[in-house]
Amino acid sequence: MRSQRNRRIAIPNAARTDRERPFPWFHRLRPSLRLLLLVGSLSYSGAASAQDAAQYFRQNCASCHTIGGGRLTGPDLKNVADRRDRQWLTRFILDPSAVLQSGDPYAAKLQEEARGVVMPKPPGITRELAERLLDLIAAESKLERSQFAGSLFSDKPFTAADVAEGKRLFLGTSRLASGGTSCISCHAVRGIGALGGGRLGPDLTRVYERLQGKKNLSAWLSAPATATMQATFQSRPLGPEEIHALVAFFEDSAKHSGEEDMSGPLAFLLLGIGGAALGLVGMDAIWRSRFHGVRRFLTGHETR
Ligand code: HEC
Ligand code: HEC
Repeated sequence: MRSQRNRRIAIPNAARTDRERPFPWFHRLRPSLRLLLLVGSLSYSGAASAQDAAQYFRQNCASCHTIGGGRLTGPDLKNVADRRDRQWLTRFILDPSAVLQSGDPYAAKLQEEARGVVMPKPPGITRELAERLLDLIAAESKLERSQFAGSLFSDKPFTAADVAEGKRLFLGTSRLASGGTSCISCHAVRGIGALGGGRLGPDLTRVYERLQGKKNLSAWLSAPATATMQATFQSRPLGPEEIHALVAFFEDSAKHSGEEDMSGPLAFLLLGIGGAALGLVGMDAIWRSRFHGVRRFLTGHETR
């Protein structure tokens, strides 16, 4: 049942009527075919956006890197060409984990500074695109203020109202302005709803800690760089106010997950102890009756 629900949700707009749909023929296809088409067009769009390095950077790099705006999940890329030569940088962008695994000490240091996060291989990356991205970074580094310097996010502190709105957006009781699918379809957060949410995506109870706080998580959500999230939100991005509320909600859930975390393991432990105790009592009963049998046999006091 759950897999069916997820499948329906993975295809945006499945609930709309034909008239509202931009491509009715698409929705008349079998779901498996639709998925195939979607995935195909996604990998194609990765290559097509190579036409425009800035747009590609915005969609695939800016969620982790600024140019002159300080570090996010990854380092600030301003003047990165002064740190490593062109050949190294190209090699790294083409396949970050290969460079990390080669034991490169500079890459290892970068990874340590990123608290272990490994840069994902950029979707549809080619040598030519990597070169153009490096040209872009060099050009933007020379500007007084790069278009990628910006922190898009307010420094407003989170309020209880933000947390409540974030929760509504997560649950889908407040609609996302762009019409994107609500998070609960694919994600769980501990302590929410009877069923706890979808299973297609990871549990987000502690994502605030995992993706390292307000600035990084906000940037991450503004342009998700992972496959399913990008497919879901690239054409229906979350707005800054929505991101602010969602991140407030995630901060709150991470803060309160400590106590709730215990209920799972603790209940399990108690069940385990209870079960073991019951087991021992049972074993004891069996063993005692056996022992009696043996004693009767040995002592010849068999009465019957
Ligand atoms: C999910 C986050 C993430 C995304 C998306 C990402 N990077 Fe990175 N990037 C990192 C991290 C983290 C590092 C540090 C090395 C490591 O830990 O993998 C890094 C390192 C780098 C470096 C070396 C920086 C230095 O200081 O020497 C370059 C260059 C780079 N990234 C370019 C890019 C480009 C170009 C894109 C888009 C095509 C991109 N990155 C997308 C996280 C990301
Ligand atoms: C169609 C299903 C789907 C929907 C809807 C969805 N997600 Fe995701 N999400 C995923 C999947 C799958 C992943 C794992 C990475 C990937 O494949 O994109 C993920 C990953 C993430 C991550 C990174 C988690 C980590 O630990 O690295 C965050 C943060 C996230 N989603 C937030 C959200 C938020 C916020 C919403 C609602 C606004 C949302 N997602 C809606 C499927 C979904």
